[in-house]
Amino acid sequence: MDLQDTLKTYRLFSGSYDFVFGPIFHPGRKAAVRIANNLPGQRILEVGVGTGLSLPYFRPDSEVTGIDVSAEMLAKAKARVARRRLVQVKGLHVMDAEQTSFADNSFDAVLALYVASVVPNPARFAAEIRRVCRPGGTVVIVNHFTSDSWLVSRFEKALAPLAGKIGFHADFPLDDFIEVGKLEVRDIRPSNLFGYWKLLRCVNDKAA
Ligand SMILES: C[S@@+](CC[C@H](N)C(=O)[O-])C[C@H]1O[C@@H](n2cnc3c(N)ncnc32)[C@H](O)[C@@H]1O
Repeated sequence: MDLQDTLKTYRLFSGSYDFVFGPIFHPGRKAAVRIANNLPGQRILEVGVGTGLSLPYFRPDSEVTGIDVSAEMLAKAKARVARRRLVQVKGLHVMDAEQTSFADNSFDAVLALYVASVVPNPARFAAEIRRVCRPGGTVVIVNHFTSDSWLVSRFEKALAPLAGKIGFHADFPLDDFIEVGKLEVRDIRPSNLFGYWKLLRCVNDKAA
């Protein structure tokens, strides 16, 4: 699945996204934001912010920046920020999470909710997150990873060729992602319905 597939898919999904993927993904969004909300005044980046469903939950004294490659998804996020008067949201930008324009160490925390298995190159995506997050900062990833169940993982492998159509890689092994992403994972929690998704809390373990 390349960036053109992503743009096409999410242009198509943007109108129905909140209805289809709103409530079902909400527990994972809220759990991730709770981690970012632990400290006051944090500079937070959410990559692949989509329609901004997580944005109302960030504490008002944080400074949240959201980026997404899809202008249509981001337009919905902008409308939400205006409608809900979300003072914590400092900026929403059309930008590729694999190649952002932010300086090194710009953020205290970076969140990626349901986007790691959508991007074309997960290694470059994780490297960019580590670059823009300060040393010792927090990285939270929520995503679906390949199931441990033999039966379910067969189904996920069967779906793999359809990634361009369904908008994500159904077959996305957790161990591979942690390895290529060079993530220092401190905590892995099951998330959402049946724990089918996982929340990874990571510390940005890079030299100051
Ligand atoms: C499944 S949606 C998740 C949206 C949101 N995080 C949520 O909680 O509902 C994936 C989002 O990632 C965005 N995306 C995909 N590839 C991207 C990239 N390389 N850079 C930035 N955003 C990307 C898509 O446009 C889409 O809005």
